[in-house]
Amino acid sequence: MRLSELPRIWMAPMAGEAASAALVAAVCSSGGFGQLGAAYLSPARIAEVAADIRARTTQPFGINLFCPQPWVRDDEALDDYLSRLAPWHTALGLAAPTRPERFEEDFEAQLAATVAARPAVISFVMGDPGAARVAALKAQGFLVVGTATQVAEGLLLQASGVDAVVAQGYEAGGHRGGFLGTAEGALIGTMALVPQLVDALGIPVIAAGGIADARGVAAAQALGASAVAVGTAFLLADECPLSPAYRAALLAARDADSTLTRAFSGRLARGVANRVTRALEGADLPAFPQPNAASRPMRQAAAKAGDADFISLWAGQALPLNRAGRPAADLVAALAKGWRP
Ligand SMILES: Cc1cc2nc3c(=O)[nH]c(=O)nc-3n(C[C@H](O)[C@H](O)[C@H](O)COP(=O)(O)O)c2cc1C
Repeated sequence: MRLSELPRIWMAPMAGEAASAALVAAVCSSGGFGQLGAAYLSPARIAEVAADIRARTTQPFGINLFCPQPWVRDDEALDDYLSRLAPWHTALGLAAPTRPERFEEDFEAQLAATVAARPAVISFVMGDPGAARVAALKAQGFLVVGTATQVAEGLLLQASGVDAVVAQGYEAGGHRGGFLGTAEGALIGTMALVPQLVDALGIPVIAAGGIADARGVAAAQALGASAVAVGTAFLLADECPLSPAYRAALLAARDADSTLTRAFSGRLARGVANRVTRALEGADLPAFPQPNAASRPMRQAAAKAGDADFISLWAGQALPLNRAGRPAADLVAALAKGWRP
């Protein structure tokens, strides 16, 4: 399959609560291109969810993984982070937080499960999968997509042979997907980033960040994007299984409530500000994925208890543009109105 044969409206991959077969399949079945954010799924779960997507739609879909990132275990910093979580555990009625036994899934095993699931696109974020890996995946018939937050990352990904690059602007919800320098060093807005990547690269650029309606889609096309990847707007789609507290927080948030924080994961990410992001603003935290694993019990308990103060409320700056709860198909249709064939 060629990239140009895929729909122009992509649902951006979203790991976590939004990684749902029903949502991905609904997007694919309604003329969009759905992607599964599989970063936090075990290899066995990737196989199950992909099979579930296939049972629900005959259309092609994508799977996204986090590239492995080098990190050094720092028990002292981790213990300090756990001590910050302790009062919130108490507030939620949880036992005191402890060092996680496991910090992340095995990337190679996740990739093997992804390959076995035969998506049309395998996309990567937070790194360059490298020329050898990209060539091997392309030889097996996959389209390979990378993610850039600055031109230098796009050039590296292109040199590794990817079929397309997602240009992830500053507005985007969730983790910053860059991998060169510091995340703060590449906070480039979608409006500025997309045309610079289009000019610098000889491969298609997919615009992501702040696109939430037909106007954003039209703007991205005018900037030279070959497709758009929309994340946040799909969080409120009927098929997205967000916990009620997360959903309610998204419905209540104003534009100025959006913040960049390392508080929940150790890696810079955009979401709605809450008690945890405010309390840990500017704090020195251990590197990703240590806090991500350490804060998981708190986040899961908070989602169950309906307390949005302790949930990572990932969402982008364009969140207030899309309050309407509606089927994903309606959102795909609304977005598609912005793309000129
Ligand atoms: C809840 C959430 C989870 C996300 N998880 C991932 C992920 O697993 N992989 C990835 O490449 N991007 C992830 N992102 C970023 C999106 O793929 C995309 O870049 C972003 O949503 C686009 O901006 P928008 O949110 O303004 O539409 C996530 C975004 C959100 C809101």
